[in-house]
Amino acid sequence: MSFRSIFPAALAVASQFHGANAWGDLGHETIGYIAENFVSSATESYCKDILGITNSSYLASVATWADSYKYTSAGEFSKPFHFIDAQDSPPKSCSVDYSRDCGDEGCSISAMKNYTNQLLDSSTTKAESIDALKLIVHLVGDIHQPLHDENLEIGGNDIDVKYNGESTNLHHIWDTNMPEQDAGGYWLSDAENYASLLTDRIKTGQYKSNSSSWLDGMDLTDPVSSSMIWASDANSYVCSTVLAPGLDYINSTDLSGDYYNTSQPVFEELIARAGFRLAKWLDLIAASAPSS
Ligand SMILES: *[C@@H]1O[C@H](CO)[C@@H](O)[C@H](O)[C@H]1NC(C)=O
Ligand SMILES: *[C@@H]1O[C@H](CO)[C@@H](O)[C@H](O)[C@H]1NC(C)=O
Ligand SMILES: *[C@@H]1O[C@H](CO)[C@@H](O)[C@H](O)[C@H]1NC(C)=O
Ligand SMILES: *[C@@H]1O[C@H](CO)[C@@H](O)[C@H](O)[C@H]1NC(C)=O
Ligand SMILES: *[C@@H]1O[C@H](CO)[C@@H](O)[C@H](O)[C@H]1NC(C)=O
Ligand SMILES: [Zn+2]
Repeated sequence: MSFRSIFPAALAVASQFHGANAWGDLGHETIGYIAENFVSSATESYCKDILGITNSSYLASVATWADSYKYTSAGEFSKPFHFIDAQDSPPKSCSVDYSRDCGDEGCSISAMKNYTNQLLDSSTTKAESIDALKLIVHLVGDIHQPLHDENLEIGGNDIDVKYNGESTNLHHIWDTNMPEQDAGGYWLSDAENYASLLTDRIKTGQYKSNSSSWLDGMDLTDPVSSSMIWASDANSYVCSTVLAPGLDYINSTDLSGDYYNTSQPVFEELIARAGFRLAKWLDLIAASAPSS
């Protein structure tokens, strides 16, 4: 499933439903801000140094770059890196299998391995490191969107739905409409506020008791099995939530009501997990990366 944007980027900006990209821009930026709230100060310096950014949006402001890059001729090869096409049978059975589902051109999981290893390799150039870091910030986000871990109907892009009276598709409401409704907007400032709400839940609220278990299985020497845990985790929600009501319901009901209400706790927690895991993954990289 590739997220096939039906809007060219310029039109998306002009459109009322801004942000046609994967986890729309808001989701990725939120994940960037959450990660900024949890990385060590050494990691913060490491990332700011690579990116050449000194402000307090250093991860959030690069989190959507990969979605523009894939539409350039130089970056076209990276399109398959935004997803893994799980050949499972939702909503009956969900699973992701790396050897079955990661295509010949690569997938989100092989890309995590490639770009993590580039950052750990002293022969990687400065320019390559910048792209590698920006891709990792983005891809950890994509891996946590359940429909980026699903093959069915191009990850739901071909499932037409209604949302707030608007015709769209199932992939798009998970990327964009539902998180934007929850955050109350799509600007960087909305992402920052949404991130601080989810950060508080991790630090002191409803996610506190479980958040350390979100880091289970993380091993810098094995990026494939580490990120497969995240992909399997997100993919399980395709069965339990995303497609659970069945296609007949999904394609005949406006999904901004009950469906939104049922989905909200799921995407909120997935966005929180993505940010928290990204912070830890960057901490591991920064602690082992060659000094520049
Ligand atoms: C932070 O700096 C980057 C790079 O200079 C810039 O693109 C971005 O707009 C800045 N963000 C904020 C919120 O100032
Ligand atoms: C690894 O990253 C480089 C630089 O973006 C890219 O050219 C190459 O195709 C990638 N390889 C794999 C196996 O993803
Ligand atoms: C924590 O995780 C356990 C096991 O996955 C789950 O049963 C429990 O509901 C979670 N607790 C909260 C507060 O989400
Ligand atoms: C809705 O989904 C069902 C499959 O569950 C399919 O038979 C039907 O053609 C779909 N309707 C529309 C309008 O897409
Ligand atoms: C969704 O939840 C909100 C807030 O709890 C509630 O006001 C609303 O009635 C719910 N909508 C539906 C369709 O259940
Ligand atoms: Zn993407």
